[in-house]
Amino acid sequence: MPGPAVLSEAIGIVGAGVAGLISAHVLLKDGFTDITLISRDKSVGGTWARHRVYPGLYINNVHGEYRLSGLEMPLPENAARVGGRLSGTDMCEYMEKYSATFLEGKVKFMLQTEVLDISRNAEGKWSVRVENAQSRAREVLAFSRIILATGGCSNPKIPAELSPRAAEDTGYKGLVIHSSQFASRLDDILAAVKPRESEDTDDEERVLVIGGGKSSQDICTKLAIEGRKVTMVFDTTDVFLGTASPLPDFLRKSRFLAVLSGYCSLNTRLERFLHTTSIGSAINHFIWRKLGESSFDAFQVPQNSPLRRTHPMFWGIRLSDDGNYRPDCFHALVNTGAIDIISPARVEGYSKDGKSLVVSDGTIVSPKAVLLATGYQSSWSDIFATKMAEELGINRHAPHTTIEATWDNYKSLKNPPALKPEHKLWTTSIYRGIVPAKNIERRDFAIAGALFSANLGYTNEVVAHWIASYFRGDKMHLPTSAEEAIAKAEEKAHWMKVRFPDMVSWVNESYSTSFDFWSWPQAADELLNDMYLPGMRSGGNWLNWVFKVIDLKEIENLTDEREIKQKELSSLQHP
Ligand SMILES: Cc1cc2nc3c(=O)[nH]c(=O)nc-3n(C[C@H](O)[C@H](O)[C@H](O)COP(=O)(O)OP(=O)(O)OC[C@H]3O[C@@H](n4cnc5c(N)ncnc54)[C@H](O)[C@@H]3O)c2cc1C
Ligand SMILES: *[C@@H]1O[C@H](CO)[C@@H](O)[C@H](O)[C@H]1NC(C)=O
Ligand SMILES: *[C@@H]1O[C@H](CO)[C@@H](O)[C@H](O)[C@H]1NC(C)=O
Repeated sequence: MPGPAVLSEAIGIVGAGVAGLISAHVLLKDGFTDITLISRDKSVGGTWARHRVYPGLYINNVHGEYRLSGLEMPLPENAARVGGRLSGTDMCEYMEKYSATFLEGKVKFMLQTEVLDISRNAEGKWSVRVENAQSRAREVLAFSRIILATGGCSNPKIPAELSPRAAEDTGYKGLVIHSSQFASRLDDILAAVKPRESEDTDDEERVLVIGGGKSSQDICTKLAIEGRKVTMVFDTTDVFLGTASPLPDFLRKSRFLAVLSGYCSLNTRLERFLHTTSIGSAINHFIWRKLGESSFDAFQVPQNSPLRRTHPMFWGIRLSDDGNYRPDCFHALVNTGAIDIISPARVEGYSKDGKSLVVSDGTIVSPKAVLLATGYQSSWSDIFATKMAEELGINRHAPHTTIEATWDNYKSLKNPPALKPEHKLWTTSIYRGIVPAKNIERRDFAIAGALFSANLGYTNEVVAHWIASYFRGDKMHLPTSAEEAIAKAEEKAHWMKVRFPDMVSWVNESYSTSFDFWSWPQAADELLNDMYLPGMRSGGNWLNWVFKVIDLKEIENLTDEREIKQKELSSLQHP
């Protein structure tokens, strides 16, 4: 079993998105000297890599909430108009600058390199089989430790009946493209579908966009702005937070929503009030309802609009922050008829005529292009053989333990939506969303970027420090055995089912090992405490702490803080 890391040993980081980049930077600051960053893409950034962003793509986090402490993020050019939202291009430039500033020349980059398989070899090291995307040359790399940062939105999920193969089989002649390729294929789409010139433009000059999530909304918006006729088909769509003018920072960037959302442990009097008393819980639900209703009103969504077919805000985790109302935002374009909607409905497949698709409500659509905004699947399934995945404990499995704590005392969790029946069959056991619990004692494998949070900058940075500490064999609050780690990880997985009964975390292992969307501050505190460092860094007194703005500066010196703390702890042990 590997002991504490030697700083010169080889560390492999798979993935060069935000999670991979911050992991590499923190390890460098810790003094590791042999770090390899692997990505199948041509450039860094992952979701925000240059070939994946397109003009008009905006991120759904309020300005500044999606950055890392070492590098400022400039305000977007048209900040006032877009409600402070950053564009995909802003994000891309930020990621590239981060990498150029801190990593280039210091870590080994292996870009355009696909990881095919990760396994443990006879010496107990990791063998990583890779293929160069251009030359197709294969080789096997060896690492002492691995950080898996392959993300939740890099492997497309395409239902068989809608796939390009199904299209081909029925002779469908239009374009069929998954949303992940929207940016790189945009010109092809615009060439294939003529713009709407007059009311009587041929109705087949149209794009069909399938899915109700944020990618689908973004794609419809972009195509409508480009003057194309668009039809969007979905069952439910994402809920959003929108305001006539931006919410003040003390509401939006403080602990306010985190406290309202609640956590599996309630560490403050206010959280106990809001979740375990009847009156607190009533106030809590009232606020969430108001947030939802006022968002619909601010974005002028009519009462009977299918855009109201969303999860209730309290019980869901997928939410986009749409900033303030703009005449060319998605909801506005639906109102003006620039985007047509068919909902609730599903697209059943291609029909035999070679030009149309059948919708479950009986509609026939004959588009020149089909965009599959059908989501993503776990990026892990392809790279671990079943036996290896089992040995490591990374995949979903049947629950091992019976769960005692059921959060019965949470009044806020009364009358939940129906629990998905499959929940009984599956669970994951990734401790803290970072380490497959079964492997916890080996300290040679960690996952970055799978903790689902509304502030991925802050959480990914804290996770990176946690991983560095863990690899180095630092003194941490950790379970003392794999069994204990599994029990704790399954308990957290159980919490996610109770808190978000119709969200299936285990379907998307690589995306959501831990649902800490609004409750990310509590999750980050827990990780800091694991490192014997203080949480609740935004400060304030008993009256105003909940409205104090959380600032990335709070965590800018974690490397030094950790080092000082470890010295202190070891001098206590060996006075
Ligand atoms: C269109 C879109 C919009 C989004 N908008 C938002 C938003 O507004 N706000 C938000 O918080 N989140 C958003 N997300 C979620 C987004 O995925 C995360 O914000 C974040 O970028 C994830 O970072 P990551 O580093 O964990 O993974 P990614 O950015 O997905 O990076 C994964 C990396 O792993 C590499 N990789 C994967 N598999 C392999 C393999 N087998 N071999 C080699 N390399 C591999 C990829 O090449 C990439 O470098 C959005 C996602 C999409 C798709
Ligand atoms: C898994 O996560 C991706 C990323 O957002 C999403 O598109 C997809 O719908 C999710 N799948 C399920 C089954 O929840
Ligand atoms: C971090 O360290 C720098 C340099 O020593 C210092 O100026 C800064 O105030 C520190 N930040 C915090 C939050 O302590």
